[in-house]
Amino acid sequence: MTTTFGDLERGIKQKELAEVLARLGRKYLVFSGKGGVGKTTLSVNLAWLLARSGQRVGLLDVDLNGPDLGAALYMDAQVVADESGRLMPIQVIPGLWILTVQHLLAEKNQAVMWRGPRKMRAIIQFLGETAWPELDYFIIDCPPGTGDETLSVIHHIKDITALVVTTGHSLAIADAYKAVSCLKSSNTDIKGLVENQASLVCPDCGRTIELNPPENVQSLARETALNVLTRLPLDPKAAKLAEKSQKPLVEASPDSPLSLLIKNLALTL
Ligand SMILES: Nc1ncnc2c1ncn2[C@@H]1O[C@H](COP(=O)(O)OP(=O)(O)OP(=O)(O)O)[C@@H](O)[C@H]1O
Ligand SMILES: [Mg+2]
Repeated sequence: MTTTFGDLERGIKQKELAEVLARLGRKYLVFSGKGGVGKTTLSVNLAWLLARSGQRVGLLDVDLNGPDLGAALYMDAQVVADESGRLMPIQVIPGLWILTVQHLLAEKNQAVMWRGPRKMRAIIQFLGETAWPELDYFIIDCPPGTGDETLSVIHHIKDITALVVTTGHSLAIADAYKAVSCLKSSNTDIKGLVENQASLVCPDCGRTIELNPPENVQSLARETALNVLTRLPLDPKAAKLAEKSQKPLVEASPDSPLSLLIKNLALTL
């Protein structure tokens, strides 16, 4: 027999979930059709900037099969539960709390092999059975595509706004159409498109080289009636500095063109 959202919902107290969600502030879903386009990078850096500007931010990784929020923040940690059994998000810096399944595993390289209903249950737990503090922003980093985790999030959080991340490559654009279609068919609010790795900042001369034809994202924007919020460059120098200092790139190289553009985007959230 197929397990439906309805069956799972009978196991949770809707009122309690609604009460928790009401305390999480503005909610954003960082979503894409294709993998590896920069969702986690964007989520981490937006959350970091908002927290550094004095906001209280929760960052939830709902990528259950390929969780990498901990690695993106260079953090090894173990989530514990409070006395009432609620998961305790981990505080990274003042004002920023994260939760990722990576920090629930006994062994760092352990694979998570959950199927649909178990995944949907985990999402409910991450949302409603977690001791999130009162927040100004709640950012959700998704796995690529329209899988159980993302569908579960948009089913439960009606007031969430999506940022659709894509590169300008035609394969990523093709999947971005599907991502937008999924959001529209579930009446999820979409703030707009983020083109990542749009151009390359030469690490030697600092010159910018376009990597994909800008028309690709422009066509997607036109045909889906969405705005291109920003075009972020691929910045190997900033990424290298982040890796070296074990900090998100907006902290490691705050004045890089990439960091400044992410900062501008954060100001609009
Ligand atoms: N603009 C950028 N400049 C430099 N490096 C980048 C940029 N965007 C992403 N990267 C790097 O590309 C890789 C993939 O990015 P990221 O993990 O954020 O993608 P993702 O969409 O979350 O992937 P997945 O779908 O697997 O979750 C990472 O190593 C990240 O550091
Ligand atoms: Mg990711």
